[in-house]
Amino acid sequence: MTNYVYDLMKKHHSVRKFKDKPLSNDEVKKLVEAGQSASTSSYLQTYSIIGVNDPRVKKDLKEVSGQPYVVDNGYLFVFVMDYYRHSLIDEDKKSDMDVSISSTEGLLVGSIDVALVAQNMAVAAEDMGYGMVYLGSLRNDVHRVKEILNLPEHAFPLFGMAVGEPADDEDGAPKPRLPFEHIFHENLYNSNEQEQRKALEDYDKTVSDYYHKRTNGERNETWSNQIARALGSKQRLDMLDELKKSGFLKH
Ligand SMILES: Cc1cc2nc3c(=O)[nH]c(=O)nc-3n(C[C@H](O)[C@H](O)[C@H](O)COP(=O)(O)O)c2cc1C
Repeated sequence: MTNYVYDLMKKHHSVRKFKDKPLSNDEVKKLVEAGQSASTSSYLQTYSIIGVNDPRVKKDLKEVSGQPYVVDNGYLFVFVMDYYRHSLIDEDKKSDMDVSISSTEGLLVGSIDVALVAQNMAVAAEDMGYGMVYLGSLRNDVHRVKEILNLPEHAFPLFGMAVGEPADDEDGAPKPRLPFEHIFHENLYNSNEQEQRKALEDYDKTVSDYYHKRTNGERNETWSNQIARALGSKQRLDMLDELKKSGFLKH
């Protein structure tokens, strides 16, 4: 075993500033094929990937996202949880699969499959020397994204991914993750509150030191403050309705 893949993964950071240099069709195809090699629950392959290189489509999606790198990138992918083709099989085979597709398990299976494909593509893109960033911001308006991309019933846009050559002044760096001992539990989950709190305290210090160093003292935010803000802000509470409208989560 070499450390090649490990080292590549450890270098990851999200890139949000790209050169104006499009990916070639061959590169796009290779990335998608790398994605498709991911394992897929019961061989279901519950995904479609929309490749976006039309500036008008990018602009429309940017209006949903609000983030400039939805337009300014080398290529844009949108990852769709997709049971449309399965529903066509259902029509032909009369296999009564609507209950499975619209079950909570169907949602979990579908979204896990999409995440696995996407992360394979992220690693492959970084191996090609590109940078990437995921775009959950496309869920700001799922109805509009479905309209822009002409998505049928049983197809739900989960997130996007901007890929491209990092701009010369792109200066991101790997962000410290939670310590191994905190997220890895051997055999039994360790829910000791004191130990968990101590680990969080230490990690808060690591993260605020990281921001302090990277922003010349301008930002000192701890991880727990970030999390309290993010999860306290109750965003995108329309997801249940939107999933139901797309034929998901009825059971
Ligand atoms: C599913 C998903 C959605 C994300 N959505 C966005 C987004 O809309 N905009 C953005 O700038 N970053 C987005 N990110 C990137 C995260 O903010 C980033 O991965 C995290 O802060 C860790 O930083 P790193 O990737 O540089 O290590 C997303 C990441 C994931 C996994």
